[in-house]
Amino acid sequence: MDFRRYSSSDIDAIAALELEAFSVGPYSKYMLKKIFHSSNSFNYVGEENGTIAGYVVALPLDRTSADIESIAVRPSFQHRGLGGKLMDLIEAEMRQRGYKKSILEVRDRNEETIQFYVKHGYSVTAHLPTYYRELYRGSRGAYRMEKDL
Ligand SMILES: CC(C)(COP(=O)(O)OP(=O)(O)OC[C@H]1O[C@@H](n2cnc3c(N)ncnc32)[C@H](O)[C@@H]1OP(=O)(O)O)[C@@H](O)C(=O)NCCC(=O)NCCS
Repeated sequence: MDFRRYSSSDIDAIAALELEAFSVGPYSKYMLKKIFHSSNSFNYVGEENGTIAGYVVALPLDRTSADIESIAVRPSFQHRGLGGKLMDLIEAEMRQRGYKKSILEVRDRNEETIQFYVKHGYSVTAHLPTYYRELYRGSRGAYRMEKDL
């Protein structure tokens, strides 16, 4: 697996990956473009033999914290440590940029992913009952999770 920065020619592959990875509420290509092309966002893409297998993208929240806007791994590449590697890379970049805290939101019924974040040192700091527009497993809620870097 090679890790590199997003380039604008990746957008179609990332939009396709997004549709595969998120059964509910994937970002549209328009939104993904907006996030990846935002001047202060930073990201990593994992690629194997020319196929984009996963991505992570973060945005600064304030002077001391940054938010993981999205992370996704193509289903056929999941459970091989790629998501964990993308988390390590983006957190290292946050530290390098001087951020003290990493923040993210996750659907409150997405137990598998919540466990993934707990494994990576995150803990729940808030429950946001109407965070998402679409229902997932009967809920629009999110947990905010945070980690001191
Ligand atoms: C969350 C995600 C990025 C993890 O990527 P990954 O490459 O599978 O992560 P890793 O291999 O490093 O770690 C996997 C671990 O996370 C947990 N996990 C993540 N997704 C899981 C799932 N669907 N079922 C069970 N466990 C899961 C488990 O603890 C798993 O450990 P295991 O492989 O030993 O069972 C990936 O599952 C994904 O893209 N999910 C869909 C999109 C999504 O929900 N993104 C997060 C938005 S907040």
